[in-house]
Amino acid sequence: MKERIGSIDDVKPEDPMRVVVGPHKICVVRIGDDLYAIGDTCTHADVSLSEGELDVETKHIECWKHGSCFSLETGEPDVLPAVIPEPVYRIWVEGDDVFVEVPES
Ligand code: FES
Repeated sequence: MKERIGSIDDVKPEDPMRVVVGPHKICVVRIGDDLYAIGDTCTHADVSLSEGELDVETKHIECWKHGSCFSLETGEPDVLPAVIPEPVYRIWVEGDDVFVEVPES
């Protein structure tokens, strides 16, 4: 299901943003012209990844609670304690609008 989440100007570079689309809580990240969308709730506990530290070089976001770092490209955590990957959502721009693809609920 295709959902508009805002305009490209709403997605500030290197400033992770939490977006809620129906039951899906999504962490949206912009690095340069590239957009990423992964699950926002840490798979270890109920913590918002968009409040964590972004590493633009490795394209990971760190959970502030216990330090697991999730790949923005694959959703995989690279260090414990989280072991379950985040879902990764397709995200793209049409004109000035940003869209994500979420599963039908
Ligand atoms: S809550 Fe995120 S690593 Fe523990």
